Amino acid sequence: MKKILNYILPVAILASVSSCSNEDPKKPGFEYMPDMYRSPSYETYTSNPNFPDSMTARQPVKGTIARGDAIYTDLDRMPYPYPETPEGYEQAGVELKNPLGKTELNMAEGKRLYQNYCIICHGEKGMGDGPVVLRNGPKPPAYNSDLLKNLPEGKMFHTTQFGKNMMGSHSSQLTASQRWKIIMYVQTLQLPDGTAAVPADSTKSTAPAKM
Ligand code: HEC
Repeated sequence: MKKILNYILPVAILASVSSCSNEDPKKPGFEYMPDMYRSPSYETYTSNPNFPDSMTARQPVKGTIARGDAIYTDLDRMPYPYPETPEGYEQAGVELKNPLGKTELNMAEGKRLYQNYCIICHGEKGMGDGPVVLRNGPKPPAYNSDLLKNLPEGKMFHTTQFGKNMMGSHSSQLTASQRWKIIMYVQTLQLPDGTAAVPADSTKSTAPAKM
């Protein structure tokens, strides 16, 4: 009996001393391994002395590409490489080529999107006579005018990326691949009569050409 008491007594005293504190009932008293109650890691929205801007929540590294969004293809995820400058425009005109095949399917989608996004200013045949223009909106030159009939596709894409003068950027409402499909269609409107035969090139696409 004495032996048991020898064990129980110190434990009981220790427990009574450590479990509660008389000073402040809101304080937890002695904490065994406080790291398990209070994590030493920084909470997301707390300040952080380790970074110059003192924010624990970090921005993604510059150039980070979002992954895993099903509607975007790899083409749409790539950052646009040319700067929004006259030099960037010229460089895009020389280097940037349509990566999509001129299939009937792509062309049909390009036409559909053109009718949704561009026709209001550029007009059905790209003559620069859309409903917005008829109501005193900005008048674009016709695609088959001397000014635009030889415009390279890279410059067209650059314009849809950043906009040009009175035309706004379309990069937030259309993905890169959608804009390339539209450009395919716009190229048919660059030809003299505005209704061109679609150049056949089905080698680049695996999609069945129908519609
Ligand atoms: C709000 C009216 C408006 C809409 C919508 C619009 N454009 Fe334009 N676009 C213009 C005007 C105005 C210009 C002439 C810009 C200039 O050179 O000053 C232009 C110019 C262009 C050019 C010639 C660019 C160059 O490099 O000279 C292309 C190509 C073009 N647009 C394509 C498109 C496509 C494709 C769409 C649809 C995705 C579209 N535009 C939607 C008004 C519009």
